[in-house]
Amino acid sequence: MFRCLMMLLLLISVSMVNAKDDQEMPAMHHVFDVEPSAAISVPDDFPLNKKKRVDCQTCHGIKDMKQQDYEKIDKQSEDFLREGPYSQLSDFCYRCHEVDNYQRDNVHKMLDDEGEIIESSCLYCHKKVLKPEDDIKRDEINLRLPAEKICYGCHLFTPHINALAHQKKPDKKMAKRIRRYQDEHEIMMPLSDDGKVMCVTCHSAHPIDVIDRDKPAGKQVANDDLEKGVVYRAHAWGKVFAEDKKNRLQKLNAETGKSYVLNYQRIEKEILLRLPAKDGSLCLACHAFEK
Ligand code: HEC
Ligand code: HEC
Ligand code: HEC
Ligand code: HEC
Ligand code: HEC
Ligand code: HEC
Repeated sequence: MFRCLMMLLLLISVSMVNAKDDQEMPAMHHVFDVEPSAAISVPDDFPLNKKKRVDCQTCHGIKDMKQQDYEKIDKQSEDFLREGPYSQLSDFCYRCHEVDNYQRDNVHKMLDDEGEIIESSCLYCHKKVLKPEDDIKRDEINLRLPAEKICYGCHLFTPHINALAHQKKPDKKMAKRIRRYQDEHEIMMPLSDDGKVMCVTCHSAHPIDVIDRDKPAGKQVANDDLEKGVVYRAHAWGKVFAEDKKNRLQKLNAETGKSYVLNYQRIEKEILLRLPAKDGSLCLACHAFEK
């Protein structure tokens, strides 16, 4: 059931206008001011509004949510999502929505125990099931949404600090570097139609071995443990790192009106990435850092 919910959220891209004032609610925001059906179990300490409906304060612990400036809201605040923080957004969803108890909901799990493709999983994103062994042209990929949007809806949050900063068009020099890297390493790092970095420039939606490892589109880090996903480890350098970046971060926050927090952790296991990031390979495909 949750699978359908996720898909719905992905497909209905609505932009709601808040009745109170003229602030625009974020596109694809969850429905509010709704009476929960029998399928929903709202935890006792999540307050409903006067009409017994799920509303802003049911989900958000920040006071007077409606009166806040939506652009400046502190999404890092522990109580941004009530009783947070949650390590996975889906953990929050499951506070009210039923957890599918026979199967974990992960579209990225595309291979069955025999290593065969689970065709239904392809249809989350593709209009038709592609045969990975075919030679597929860009215009035959047939995604349900443009590639730069296909991850939203399921991944609601800016998933990590640099994800947003990266949705930019590489300058000429970097574009050349990327092309050269792709040719030399026979790897694929696609940019959006308007030339910007997007989620799938760095990530692959597919786990390893859906697409043949010899093909550029199939080159990625070899980890296949989708149950564990990305594994991080807290690191003693965290404090030093934060201190080092403090000024830049304050500047970024002042410029964007957001309040990013840095939490330096080491990546222990990577997955769904075109190149490893923990040894810097991924970054070096685009950036030339001084040694
Ligand atoms: C059923 C739960 C739920 C209800 C009800 C709800 N929200 Fe949210 N809201 C969320 C979740 C989950 C997110 C984070 C998703 C995201 O980042 O887009 C969010 C994000 C937001 C954001 C940050 C958007 C951004 O991306 O910067 C604002 C502002 C917000 N909600 C305001 C409101 C207001 C105002 C109401 C009432 C009119 C409301 N919410 C009702 C769950 C809810
Ligand atoms: C506070 C409880 C609550 C939480 C937390 C919550 N939901 Fe919901 N959700 C509801 C209610 C209530 C409805 C209205 C439908 C119903 O009552 O069955 C709903 C409906 C939906 C729908 C259908 C939307 C529509 O337009 O009909 C989707 C999709 C959805 N939720 C996804 C999510 C996701 C994804 C999350 C986590 C980010 C989430 N929900 C968190 C209570 C919640
Ligand atoms: C979460 C979204 C998503 C799902 C689910 C998904 N794909 Fe894709 N697929 C993409 C995107 C985005 C692209 C274009 C970028 C790329 O090639 O990675 C793509 C591209 C492809 C390509 C073309 C690769 C090339 O050579 O350029 C093949 C083949 C493919 N997908 C097969 C599949 C199959 C088979 C499944 C089901 C087992 C599947 N996809 C499920 C998002 C998805
Ligand atoms: C239909 C929903 C859906 C779509 C669409 C989707 N994802 Fe996911 N993704 C998930 C779920 C579920 C997980 C498992 C972790 C979790 O529960 O949040 C996940 C996990 C991940 C992970 C981390 C692996 C882990 O488990 O730690 C990455 C990276 C990721 N997705 C990237 C992408 C990218 C890139 C796209 C767009 C091409 C995308 N996803 C589209 C649902 C989705
Ligand atoms: C510049 C490269 C880059 C871009 C662009 C990027 N990511 Fe990531 N992402 C990473 C790296 C590196 C990691 C951490 C290691 C890993 O995934 O194995 C990561 C991790 C993740 C995770 C797992 C987070 C966790 O803690 O479990 C998700 C989910 C994810 N990315 C989704 C996305 C989505 C959605 C987008 C587009 C909005 C995106 N990423 C854009 C490089 C990138
Ligand atoms: C696909 C190419 C690509 C990859 C891979 C990539 N970057 Fe970037 N990076 C960019 C682009 C494009 C920008 C935006 C440059 C601009 O602001 O004009 C950027 C900007 C940045 C910035 C500045 C962001 C800010 O806040 O202003 C940092 C820091 C950075 N990248 C670090 C990394 C690290 C670390 C990695 C590896 C995990 C990485 N990048 C991987 C293309 C890439």
